[in-house]
Amino acid sequence: MGFEEATIRSYEGKSDRAQVEDLERRCEVGPGERVFLFTDSMGDPMCRIRNSPMYKMLVAELGKELVGVIRGSIKVVTVHRQARDLARVGYILGLRIAPLHRRKGIGSSLVCRLEEWFIANDVDFAYMATEKDNEASVKLFVNKLGYMKFRTPAILVNPVKSIHPFHISSSVEIEKLTVEEAGFLYRKFMASRSEFFPNDIDNILRNKLSLGTWVAYPRGETFGSDGQLPSSWAMLSVWNSGEVFKLRLGKAPLSCLIYTKSSRMMDKFFPCFKLPSLPDFFHPFGFYFMYGVHRDGPMSGKLVKTLCQLVHNMATKSKDCKVIVTEVAGHDTLKHHIPHWKLLSCLEDLWCMKALKNEEGNTLQELTKSPQTRALFVDPREV
Ligand SMILES: CC(C)(COP(=O)(O)OP(=O)(O)OC[C@H]1O[C@@H](n2cnc3c(N)ncnc32)[C@H](O)[C@@H]1OP(=O)(O)O)[C@@H](O)C(=O)NCCC(=O)NCCS
Repeated sequence: MGFEEATIRSYEGKSDRAQVEDLERRCEVGPGERVFLFTDSMGDPMCRIRNSPMYKMLVAELGKELVGVIRGSIKVVTVHRQARDLARVGYILGLRIAPLHRRKGIGSSLVCRLEEWFIANDVDFAYMATEKDNEASVKLFVNKLGYMKFRTPAILVNPVKSIHPFHISSSVEIEKLTVEEAGFLYRKFMASRSEFFPNDIDNILRNKLSLGTWVAYPRGETFGSDGQLPSSWAMLSVWNSGEVFKLRLGKAPLSCLIYTKSSRMMDKFFPCFKLPSLPDFFHPFGFYFMYGVHRDGPMSGKLVKTLCQLVHNMATKSKDCKVIVTEVAGHDTLKHHIPHWKLLSCLEDLWCMKALKNEEGNTLQELTKSPQTRALFVDPREV
């Protein structure tokens, strides 16, 4: 017996918002037994695509019931291949199908309709990110729709311990850059060395959610505007993701709940113990996303760590920023220098990609097979 076919159409803010929010609540994605951070769009289902250069949101309807939703955005990034280094890519995110209407082909239909929008807008590759162990999602994209497993970045999450700001080493010089200086350095040092570096980096840096870009280098050396570089240096930028949507903890094991409560009490009464207390993760909270983390030179690992401490100290002054998140290529040694909590960073991301133009098919085969040596630029607008 065949299923009734769902109608797919563009999202209409006023009439669909409540149904989409309800659908998303019923579809919370997260690995079964582990601690997991859920997203909360705080009444704006478009929030995760709104800052992208081009975006679209589609819904699937059965009769009057809204049973599926998907979002997509388009931009130009670096995808290093023989002929040229820039590609137009379409990002797929926020695919949700109501639990009672799964396995009826609605998820596949929504992806296919979004791909049609990508193709009409000259997109070379479509890509998506999912948790590595989300079997339904991986099977849908890889087995059914022909996506290829592309990269496995690591998501690093660090709690903000508001009563323990870090002491910033006096041997490190830190400078805040202007948008122009940051754009210049990113184009010069990251564009040719990273995958998915966005061609419109200046739009990201100028966005009101971008709190700034900082460089760190050994005190006594010079970071010259004339291009003179210190022996070691590091840079990163910060995006105030909490202004767009909130996070909250799901499926916390009892041990984690007890630890949170007891360590906060210990902090309150015995602050000198400096225990690594967890903030209150059980109500929606904001977070900072560190993007464009780049380093060069033998001492640069320490400099990255110092910049992360600076961001942590900034976060302690914000009202609701409770964690700092970043995402780096799985093979990247950067992750050893970025403070993170294993308990919250156990999520393994999987990026899958599909060529939407025949001539890009072989390129993608090569890209997926080639060893991962480049850094990955994770766009804060797509977190
Ligand atoms: C993943 C999800 C979107 C799939 O939607 P759907 O409408 O059920 O997908 P489809 O009916 O189009 O399924 C297409 C194929 O995907 C695979 N698939 C879908 N759900 C699956 C499951 N639970 N287990 C294994 N394979 C599955 C199958 O290969 C299926 O083809 P088949 O039914 O012919 O065997 C849906 O399960 C969902 O909303 N999950 C929670 C949110 C989520 O994980 N979103 C994806 C994040 S990127």
